[in-house]
Amino acid sequence: MKITVVGAGAVGASCAEYIAIKNFASEVVLLDIKENFAEGKAMDLMQTSSLNYFDTKIIGSTNDYSKTENSNIAIITSGIPRKPGMTREELIGINAGIVNNVVSQLLKYSPEVILVIVSNPMDTMTYLVNKQFNLEKNKVIGMGGILDSARFKYRIAEALKCPISDVDGMVIGGHSDTGMIPLIGKATRNGISIDTLLTNSIKEKIVHETKIGGATLTSMLGTSAWYAPGAAVSSLVHSIACDQRKMFTCSVYLNGEYNLDDICIGVPVIIGSNGVHEIIKLDLSENETEDLKTSARSVKSTNLLLDSIDLK
Ligand code: 2OP
Repeated sequence: MKITVVGAGAVGASCAEYIAIKNFASEVVLLDIKENFAEGKAMDLMQTSSLNYFDTKIIGSTNDYSKTENSNIAIITSGIPRKPGMTREELIGINAGIVNNVVSQLLKYSPEVILVIVSNPMDTMTYLVNKQFNLEKNKVIGMGGILDSARFKYRIAEALKCPISDVDGMVIGGHSDTGMIPLIGKATRNGISIDTLLTNSIKEKIVHETKIGGATLTSMLGTSAWYAPGAAVSSLVHSIACDQRKMFTCSVYLNGEYNLDDICIGVPVIIGSNGVHEIIKLDLSENETEDLKTSARSVKSTNLLLDSIDLK
């Protein structure tokens, strides 16, 4: 299993690190445009291998896509991260051209690759890749909902003062501060609805803190987060590499599912060796359905901005 990570910044390096530590891939290629940067990160990570007990070989490359040849999976983290006060949507002007260029380079050497999109605005970048390259829909997966769901579970466990392994919950919708839909009514602790365990005001607080999860960290760190995004990517990629068929919320191309068309947005899917194995149909309440419609409208309005961007 060969995996490429494009972008050796904090998120890309964290993806490479978590993938290596889980020891399911034979090779990880870390690629960046900055001279020697990916090579340095790869060497540093390789020097942890005897300490962290992994055999995955990590190779760095300065923009040489021939090194990515025959990758099974490629993760795209390239582009600029947001700064405090910025929304993910504001990054579109710069990141659309970068993502477009990265994917066309990757496909030259690995036409069958499964693409995992992390660059923001993530739903629109996933849509762009679908539209520009006419790939099989199951092979383009936006990573956002897994991260948002992890943040949601963290907030629930914090409120319940319980171990996170007791908690289950998911976030659907767009990967944006306003578009995320933490499904609080469906969250559970060991199968018991958290509806009965927490007051309304605490539940509202959990939803709010989940939605601004990325923004909160951006204001604390001065740039966007990397540990949880890297861990989320590695879980997704692990499920592809080992055909685990795990269920995650991912941004995928919808063609009528959830009454949505021509959009990539977060819904629960089964992830296996072919990428998206199945889109899961959730029974949504009236409010949840309305929230998903509103979120989809906002993702579509960001997608429309692509028309005015010169991708070359
Ligand atoms: C986040 O939410 C980077 O969008 C990513 O942290």
